[in-house]
Amino acid sequence: MYNQNRIKNILTMTAEHQKITVYGWIRTKRESKTFTFLEINDGSCVTNLQVIVDHSENDTRLRALNTGASVQIDGTIEPSQGKQPLELHTTIDSVTLFGEADGATYPLQKKRHSLEYLREIGHLRPRTNTIAAVMRIRSRASFAIHNFFQSKGFYYIHTPLISASDCEGAGQMFQVTTLPLEKVPTENGEVDYSKDFFGKKTSLTVSGQLEAEIYATAMGNCYTFGPTFRAEHSNTTRHLAEFWMIEPEMAFCDIDGDMDTAESLLKYVIKDVMDNCADDLSFLNQWIDKGLLARLQQICEQPFARITYTQAIEELEKAIKSGVKFEFPVKWGNDLQSEHERYLTENIYKCPVTVTGYPKEIKAFYMKLNDDKKTVRAMDILVPGIGEIIGGSEREENYNILLQRINELGLDEKDYSWYLELRKFGTVPHAGFGLGFERLILLLTGMQNIRDVIPFPRTFKNAEF
Ligand code: 4AD
Ligand code: MG
Repeated sequence: MYNQNRIKNILTMTAEHQKITVYGWIRTKRESKTFTFLEINDGSCVTNLQVIVDHSENDTRLRALNTGASVQIDGTIEPSQGKQPLELHTTIDSVTLFGEADGATYPLQKKRHSLEYLREIGHLRPRTNTIAAVMRIRSRASFAIHNFFQSKGFYYIHTPLISASDCEGAGQMFQVTTLPLEKVPTENGEVDYSKDFFGKKTSLTVSGQLEAEIYATAMGNCYTFGPTFRAEHSNTTRHLAEFWMIEPEMAFCDIDGDMDTAESLLKYVIKDVMDNCADDLSFLNQWIDKGLLARLQQICEQPFARITYTQAIEELEKAIKSGVKFEFPVKWGNDLQSEHERYLTENIYKCPVTVTGYPKEIKAFYMKLNDDKKTVRAMDILVPGIGEIIGGSEREENYNILLQRINELGLDEKDYSWYLELRKFGTVPHAGFGLGFERLILLLTGMQNIRDVIPFPRTFKNAEF
């Protein structure tokens, strides 16, 4: 048994009276005396296949055909009088029940459930239209991302998940250890990491960037696409402790090439998903976010606004003067908060905004210092509804300046010796960025909470399933 006959394909069939077999789960049942309507869904599309089952009066086998039950149905495809183009005609003898679902206890009833409730039943929520539509879009978007880079000759580099360096220098790493927590070996009061599995302190990676830089400065344009981990306590609708990130790294590329690549990647993926997931998008446009399709269309068509951090601060100060209230202060030197980012993209520019030239104090050590010695060649892309979706920069390729930045920030230069060496031997201008995959899925689906666009969210105090 191997089911290739997905409902998505069945619904496009043209031949009438064709015998087919369908496998799936019953969504609804409407009984009358000698025939019963079943709506079958197999997870391949939002639309159910309507099945009309002939039977004799009071056939006891009907009792088990409830919402949630899994079945195989053999029948013939016929044109339908209803909403769908086709329906399946069969008799009760051709319905095979694999597994019942007791109507009194099955957690997914016919009614609409809240997304909060669905999070509690993560093992069953992919059987809902919303979560399945989001996950089909997620699958397509991953494929589109690989297509984008592969078609441009980028190499996919698998960077490690266990790492000894903190790329962002923000100290938000999950430690990886096999040392017994109840009896940690110490040496002069300090943990003796030489006894640990790797013989040194290691963590789950926060970013594959530094390792991607190694490959980009040898093979040219590369990218990584994998899980990253941040022990952030921020309990927001845009932060996960485990999220997926796409990180291209381009040799012989400056900040302008970086911005161009990021903008065309976003547009490419949106367009691809619009072309290939049209039914899922129109479902989400109807039930989740009425402005979704128009917004995606607009993002594809318009060039993104490009401004400097200094301009962003000026615009926000103007907004404050005109009466807009923010929770966090706006001041040159402060990081932009998501309320500021969203105001810029949603209210001022009304399109995605690429911000460059951030103060060096609020950005990571590896970003290339501008001639003013105050700002760095960073770029963040802000999008409506979310704020920051991409963070990237041109990298500091000058050995002495990089060393100075590492020391200024109190990082241990020994930890970055190999990173510094890339600047000692055949250094090249290079640049890259990180696109948060789940934030991209929020943009693509109109969903509000990042917990609903990843199959199994890991957040502060939560790692169910
Ligand atoms: O801005 P970030 O921290 O940049 C980096 O990690 C760089 N090393 C990337 C690079 O240049 N190669 O993160 C990049 C993106 C953010 O813009 C955001 O979309 C996403 O990753 N992100 C998160 N997504 C979900 N949950 C979190 N906790 C996230 N932190 C960052
Ligand atoms: Mg960032």
